[in-house]
Amino acid sequence: MGMSSMMNRKEWLKSSGAVVAGGISMLSAGIFPRTKSVEQIRKDLRSSRKFVSDRDFMRTFPEDFGAIRLMANENPWGPSPKAKEAIIKATEQGNRYPILIYENFLKRIADHEKVEVEQLMLTPGSSGVLTGAGIYFTSLGGNIVTADPSYSDMPDFAESIGAEVRWVPLTDEYKLDLKAMEAKVDSDTKVVYICNPNNPTGTKLDSSELKEFCKRVSKKTHILVDEAYLDYQDDPLAESMMPLVREGYNITVAKTFSKLYGFAGMRIGYAVSSPEMIKNLDNNARGFYGISMLALEGADAAFQEDEFLNFAKKQTVASRDYLYSVLEKEGYEYIPSHTNFVMFPIRMNGDRFVQEIWKRGVAVRNWEFNNQQWCRVSIGKMESMEAFATAFKQIS
Ligand SMILES: Cc1ncc(COP(=O)(O)O)c(C=O)c1O
Repeated sequence: MGMSSMMNRKEWLKSSGAVVAGGISMLSAGIFPRTKSVEQIRKDLRSSRKFVSDRDFMRTFPEDFGAIRLMANENPWGPSPKAKEAIIKATEQGNRYPILIYENFLKRIADHEKVEVEQLMLTPGSSGVLTGAGIYFTSLGGNIVTADPSYSDMPDFAESIGAEVRWVPLTDEYKLDLKAMEAKVDSDTKVVYICNPNNPTGTKLDSSELKEFCKRVSKKTHILVDEAYLDYQDDPLAESMMPLVREGYNITVAKTFSKLYGFAGMRIGYAVSSPEMIKNLDNNARGFYGISMLALEGADAAFQEDEFLNFAKKQTVASRDYLYSVLEKEGYEYIPSHTNFVMFPIRMNGDRFVQEIWKRGVAVRNWEFNNQQWCRVSIGKMESMEAFATAFKQIS
C-alpha cells in the first residue's frame, strides 16, 4: 500500500468531525439515531471484517438501554465503593483542569510499573492508546499483523484509514496462532497486535511462550500487547509482558481500568513503552485533555486497593461457573474462559439468536468464524446470568 492511498490525519479528523456533526444534529432533533439492522450498519463499515461496535450494535434495537447488558464485557460490580467516593468528591473540582492529579497519578503508575514517567501515557480508556497506535502505525505505511477473531478496534480502524492488515486465524484451540502470526511478519510489518487473553474467545497464551515470541519478533517489528483482561488471572503480574518493556524490548503494553476495575463508563487506561514510542503514540492520541478529573481521581483511588479487585474476580468466577453449568445442562460446548466473558457455538443464525435473546430482555453478541455461529456472553451478576439462562433455555 502506498502512502498516497492512505487518508492523512487531517482528512481523517475532518471525516470524523463530519460524523460527530451528524450525530449532534440527530440528537438535537431529540431522536437517538436508530438503525434497523446490523446488516445496514455493516454495509457502511470500511474495514473488511465489518465488525459492528457495541455502540452501533445498541442502535439496532428499538428499546432503550434497559436490557440486561451481557454484551460489552463490563464489570457490574464496579466501581468500588472507595472509587465512587473519590469520584463524587472530585466533582467539587469539576471546574479545574486536572493538572496535579494527572501528574500524581502518572507518577503512581510509573512507580507501580517500575518505569519512568516518560514511558507512560494515559488515555480515555485503552481505546485511546489503540486509536493512537492505529494512526501512528498506519502513517508509517507497510502492514499490521493481528489475529482473527480478536479485539479488532485498532486493526479495523487502521484498515479503515488505509493500512494493510494481515488477519491470522486462531489455532484449533481458539488461541492466537503465534507461529502463523510470526510467519506473516515481513520487513514491511510496522506492528503486531496481540490481545492476551483474547477477546472474544477468552483464551490465553502460555506466558513464557508469548514472552519468547515477543523477544524474538520485537527485533523485527513493534509489538503491541493488549492486557485488558489480564487482571482476571490469579497472578496477573506473573503473566504480564511489562517486564519486557522494562528490559528495553520494542514492545508496548496497553492497560485499562474498564474491566476488572469496573471503570468502563469513566474512560481511563494507559500504555507503557519506550519514551520514543510513547511520544509517537501520544502525538496521535487524546491524552491529558481527554481524561476527566473524575476518572483520574477515581482510578487513583481504585489503583490503591486490592480488596475490590479480589471481590470482583470471585464474583466473576461464580457467575461464570454458573453459566458453564447452564450450557452443559443444555448440551452445549463452550470455550473455557480466562476472562469476564464466555464464547460458545450456537445452532442458529447468530444475528437471529441475538434478536431472540434480546426480545427476552438480555443483550449478548454474536460472531461467525470457522464456518460456525458463536455467541459471546459477558459475565454479569448472578440474577443477570439467570435471566440469560431463562431466555437461552427457551430458544436453545
Ligand atoms: C481487548 C480489549 N482492549 C481494549 C478495549 C477497550 O476498552 P476501553 O477503551 O474501555 O479501555 C476492550 C473493550 O472491550 C477490549 O476488549
